[in-house]
Amino acid sequence: MSQFYVISAVATFILVLCNIHELKAQLELVHYGNTCAMAEQIVKDEVRNAFNRDPGLAAGLVRLQFHDCFIRGCDGSVLIDSTSSNTAEKDSPNAPGLQGFEVIDKAKARIEAVCRGVVSCADIVAFAVRDSIEMTGGLGYDVQAGRRDGRVSLASEASSGLTSPGDNLTKLTQAFAKRGLTQEDMVTLSGAHTIGRSHCTSFTYRLYNYNNTGVQDPSLDRAYAAHLQQECPQKIPTLAKLVVPMNPSSPAVTDAGYYMDVWKNRGMFNSDQTLTSSPRTANQVEQYAMNPMLWKSKFAAAMVKMGRIGVLTGSDGEIRANCRVIN
Ligand code: HEM
Ligand SMILES: *[C@@H]1O[C@H](CO)[C@@H](O)[C@H](O)[C@H]1NC(C)=O
Ligand SMILES: *[C@@H]1O[C@H](CO)[C@@H](O)[C@H](O)[C@H]1NC(C)=O
Repeated sequence: MSQFYVISAVATFILVLCNIHELKAQLELVHYGNTCAMAEQIVKDEVRNAFNRDPGLAAGLVRLQFHDCFIRGCDGSVLIDSTSSNTAEKDSPNAPGLQGFEVIDKAKARIEAVCRGVVSCADIVAFAVRDSIEMTGGLGYDVQAGRRDGRVSLASEASSGLTSPGDNLTKLTQAFAKRGLTQEDMVTLSGAHTIGRSHCTSFTYRLYNYNNTGVQDPSLDRAYAAHLQQECPQKIPTLAKLVVPMNPSSPAVTDAGYYMDVWKNRGMFNSDQTLTSSPRTANQVEQYAMNPMLWKSKFAAAMVKMGRIGVLTGSDGEIRANCRVIN
C-alpha cells in the first residue's frame, strides 16, 4: 500500500516537472503585456506606414515568416545579414527577392526606444505578418509570442532546406511534415501565393524548354503561358530583374483567388500546380476555390501553427538588439 503511494507521488512529481517544462517552452498570448504593452501597436503602425508607401511589402513580410520558420524554426534567423565570415540565409540563391526587412528594422528601432531588450525580432515578424494579412483583406488572428532570437543563419541551410518552385507533391508534403505540418496545412499555406510577385527566373524553366523537353510545361494553361511569355521574354539581359504578379486577377488581396488559378491550371510554379496532382489535394483546392471564407479561416489557423515551428523560448537564444546582427 505505502509502496503504491510512493510510486504515485513520484509519478505525480514527474508529471508536474514535465508540465512546468512544457509551460516554459510555450508561446502565449499577450506575452509582452507587462513588459512592452505597446509593441504590437508599434508594429502595426509601421506595417501600415510601409503598406501605404508600397502595398507589395505586405506579401514580402508574409514570405519572410515562411522562410524564417522553415530554417531553424521561427527564430528571426532570416533577418540576419551576411558578414565577412558568414553568408546568411537571406543571401542563399534559393531565396531570391526577399523583401520587407526595413519594415522590421523600423518597428524594432521604435520598440527598442521604449522597452529595450525585451521584444524579439522573431515576434516582430510574427506580428507584422498578421497585420499584413489583415491589411490585404485576410482574416486577423491573435499572435502567440515569446519567441527568442537565434544566433545562427547559414545560406547553406536555406539552400538545402527550403522548398523549391520545381518541387512535386511528394517533396512538398515531406518538407512540411518535417516541420510538423500536415499535407492539408501545406495546401492551405500555399494560398499565401494569392498575393505578391515572383521573379521571372523562378518559373521561366516552365515556359520555353521545360526541363529540356523542347516544349513548355504541358500542365500549364496555354493562354496563361502565353501571357507569362510576354511578361518574361526569353534571353533578354534584364530577365533576372523582371517580376510578375502572382494571382493576376487580385495580386494585392488575400483572397482565395490562388485556388481558382491552380484549379484552372494557372499555378505559377510546379509547386503550386502540383496541388491538383492527387485527388485529395485537388479536392481541397476546389473546396477553397468555391468557399473563400473557409480558406481564410483555415489560413489564419495554419499561420498560427507555422509560427510555432521550432521556436526558442525561456532562456534559449537571445533578444537581438538589431535584427540584422547577433548580439
Ligand atoms: C510550398 C512551397 C513554397 C514554394 C516552393 C514557394 C516558392 C516561392 C517562390 C519561388 C516565390 C517567388 C520568389 C521570387 O522569385 O521573387 C515565392 C513568393 C512568395 N511566397 Fe512562396 N513558396 C512556398 C510556400 C509559401 C508559404 C507557405 C508562404 C507563406 C505562408 C509563402 C509566401 C510567399 C509570398 C507572400 C510570396 C510573394 C513575395 C513578394 O511578393 O515579395 N510561400 N514563393
Ligand atoms: C524540372 O526542373 C525543375 C527546375 O530545375 C526541377 O526543380 C524539377 O524537379 C524538374 N521537374 C521534373 C519533372 O523533372
Ligand atoms: C518527386 O520528386 C522527387 C525528387 O525530385 C522524385 O524522386 C520523385 O520521383 C517525384 N515523385 C513524383 C510522383 O513525380
